[in-house]
Amino acid sequence: MTDDGRMRRVPVRLEGGRSYPIDVGPGVLSGLGAVARANLPAEARRVALVSNPRVFDLYGARAIASLRGAGFSVSHWLMSDGERFKTLRTAERCLRFLSESELERADAVAALGGGVVGDLAGFAAALYLRGVAFVQVPTTLLAQIDSSVGGKTGVNTRAGKNLVGAFHQPRAVVVDTETLRTLPARELTAGWCEAIKQGAVGDRRLFERTRKFLEEESRRKVACRIGTGRDGSRADVRGGGRDEGRGEGRDEELAELIAEQCAFKAKIVAGDEREDISRADARSRRVLNFGHTVGHALESLTGYRRFRHGEAVGHGMIAAAEISKRLGLLDGSELESLRGAVRAAGHLPAASDLDAGMVARALRADKKAVGGSVRWVLLERIGRARVVDGREVPARVIRESIRAALGAR
Ligand SMILES: NC(=O)c1ccc[n+]([C@@H]2O[C@H](COP(=O)([O-])OP(=O)(O)OC[C@H]3O[C@@H](n4cnc5c(N)ncnc54)[C@H](O)[C@@H]3O)[C@@H](O)[C@H]2O)c1
Ligand SMILES: [Zn+2]
Repeated sequence: MTDDGRMRRVPVRLEGGRSYPIDVGPGVLSGLGAVARANLPAEARRVALVSNPRVFDLYGARAIASLRGAGFSVSHWLMSDGERFKTLRTAERCLRFLSESELERADAVAALGGGVVGDLAGFAAALYLRGVAFVQVPTTLLAQIDSSVGGKTGVNTRAGKNLVGAFHQPRAVVVDTETLRTLPARELTAGWCEAIKQGAVGDRRLFERTRKFLEEESRRKVACRIGTGRDGSRADVRGGGRDEGRGEGRDEELAELIAEQCAFKAKIVAGDEREDISRADARSRRVLNFGHTVGHALESLTGYRRFRHGEAVGHGMIAAAEISKRLGLLDGSELESLRGAVRAAGHLPAASDLDAGMVARALRADKKAVGGSVRWVLLERIGRARVVDGREVPARVIRESIRAALGAR
């Protein structure tokens, strides 16, 4: 990672000498044009910007000004806001926009928004003219540390989420951490849960750093509520409302932490770019699925309405850690440490009314199942995952663990 004043550059190195930069820092959006110029084909003249109305209102003008400043001709198109619009139908509309923009082979698509915009625009970029270059400008925490890095793009179908897609790596990712100031608290909590996951499965130091940052943020908020620490006002980045009292130092710490999270994801992706299904080792891309088996079951049982995806993963990680403990893999103190981190990420919608047996039955529909059995990502300790075949986990252990994690019946 290189550190140039307020900007950090994280390289993503792929096979065959391919690589791309992730630029992270407060205000880096104004450098979008220059980054695009440096990383797109030399003949690139046009950039087709895809966003949604909410994000475009906030950041569209800056993105466009920066791209135009670097000599690109820019057109834009806004998809409707929400997961339910991440469909083939929207992708088709997006393709029509790319065609009407007269985008040529050397030109590029830029995605400005959260994971929904990034997945859809990336998918359209992978399809259009059999693939045009693509730049990601993620504006949610989840997209900044997770979905914008790694080249997975796609849409949902009636049969399930992300069932149709393509691997299409971006040419550059521009992560402006200042955009998080306008992000709703629940979106932050959801993103922090994925951040905790990344540390938990592969990097103990990153886990501790993330946990400390979140605990510090939550202490700061309490201090503000009782009337201390009023030295300026800005959004709380922990996920739980407004805060007063964050300084520039905290902004830098946040940017540093996000850059480390990106570096972690980049490392895993570099080692397993296409998620090889025969791999189940502790460095395989599969381990990023920690917390997702129960998480997906909770999302689908509640009709995708109660939880943000990351919030469901928050509950799911505790369930997987409970299983790990019951199988004798994970120490009780490590489970508590994970619980502490998830608590510090912010409030999760309750799941205690859901029947543990029902959740266990819903697990079987998980699309990450291989040969009909669920692959559990469990923990040996914080920082080390182990993939376990579902047939090796007794049904009773699963039910008890879910019950313990959700406080369920
Ligand atoms: N490709 C991958 O590897 C990968 C990985 C994880 C998740 N995903 C996908 O990502 C999607 C979820 O992404 P998400 O959590 O970013 O949700 P999202 O894109 O729906 O964004 C959440 C909400 O925040 C708003 N928003 C975005 N940036 C904002 C900002 N700076 N200020 C204010 N509001 C803002 C959005 O308009 C939206 O309403 C899912 O579809 C999931 O499947 C993909
Ligand atoms: Zn996830």
